[in-house]
Amino acid sequence: PNKQQLEKLSNDIKERSIIDEDLRIILNSFPKSAHPMGILSSLTSGLVAFDPSAVNIDDEEDMYDAILNLLAKIPVLVAWVYRRRKGLSLEYGDTSLAYVENLAKMMFQRPNKEYVQNDTIVSALNKLLILHADHEQNCSTSTVRIVGSSFAGLFASVAAGISALWGRLHGGANQAVIEMLEEIQKDGGDTKKFMSKAKDKSDPFRLMGFGHRVYRNQDPRAIIMKETCHEVLDELGLNDDPIFKLAMKLEKIALEDEYFIEKKLYPNVDFYSGIVMRAIGIPFSMFTAVFALARTAGWVAHWNEMMMSDESKIGRPRQVYKGKTKRDIK
Ligand code: SDX
Repeated sequence: PNKQQLEKLSNDIKERSIIDEDLRIILNSFPKSAHPMGILSSLTSGLVAFDPSAVNIDDEEDMYDAILNLLAKIPVLVAWVYRRRKGLSLEYGDTSLAYVENLAKMMFQRPNKEYVQNDTIVSALNKLLILHADHEQNCSTSTVRIVGSSFAGLFASVAAGISALWGRLHGGANQAVIEMLEEIQKDGGDTKKFMSKAKDKSDPFRLMGFGHRVYRNQDPRAIIMKETCHEVLDELGLNDDPIFKLAMKLEKIALEDEYFIEKKLYPNVDFYSGIVMRAIGIPFSMFTAVFALARTAGWVAHWNEMMMSDESKIGRPRQVYKGKTKRDIK
């Protein structure tokens, strides 16, 4: 975009960054223990109640409006889901701040003390959101496309993508990485035991944060995320963090292990992103919700590309039936 276009988009998003108060009622009706991804998917789908024109996929203006509304409201929803779990008031940030600064304020401000921005946290969040913004036809993006291909509208399509991202084989891996590291630590830190579990076909355990459907080498995002790990832990004085040290030990062992080398299993972006989010104070139940916030930019871009293309058709995979033929009831 040129400067004016960028400024217009930024202002258009700020203009839409408030949410109908009735949505608070829906959010507050969830138990505090509800998983953030389940709440986020429900609230995203529910946005259409307050913006019915979002389903008008034949009207470019309504489509643009739906895109702006989603980009403007998803950071508020993520911040509110986080604060709901902590029993904190659901606050807005400050639209004079930039997108990430505003997100950090919405999440971390406390009602009884002046909010002071932590530049390390903002910088780490900014890198996280950029690195996770889009990644071709991954599971959740393909989900957004296939739901969108039925003309269900943007909010329903992205709500479906959020559900797909939730799985621990996909976006839920960042939470699963920390849970795995904490399990290894609780078990006495015996990385060799967990490495053999990961290689044992009869054992469902997999090394979370390793491997990828597409990358058969280091996930380039993991390289930047690892650097960010070091920066954040340095700046926050957390270098002795036992979980980070265990992660480095596990990474070294895995990169030298012949099974992992032969299977081309390398750390992926999720291996480090959880450590960064944990260091900046995001609870691991919220990790995938932050991933969803980032990936909303990519989902919206894919959805828009598909809806603007005159070649798009409804998604309809075929199958070769290999099941049983006729069977009589005994
Ligand atoms: C993301 O697609 C994207 O772009 C996704 C993503 C994005 O930005 O959208 O990059 C985000 O989802 C990253 C991946 C996060 N998931 C995890 O970290 C979960 C742990 N990883 C694995 O479950 C697995 O690697 C997958 C799910 C990521 C990929 O699954 P595949 O494609 O089935 O794995 P594969 O075919 O490459 O496996 C090859 C072999 C298999 O053994 P064999 O059957 O050949 O004997 O390697 C084994 C697998 O069992 N294997 C692992 C392993 N990952 C694969 N063994 C131990 N630990 C692992 N993590």
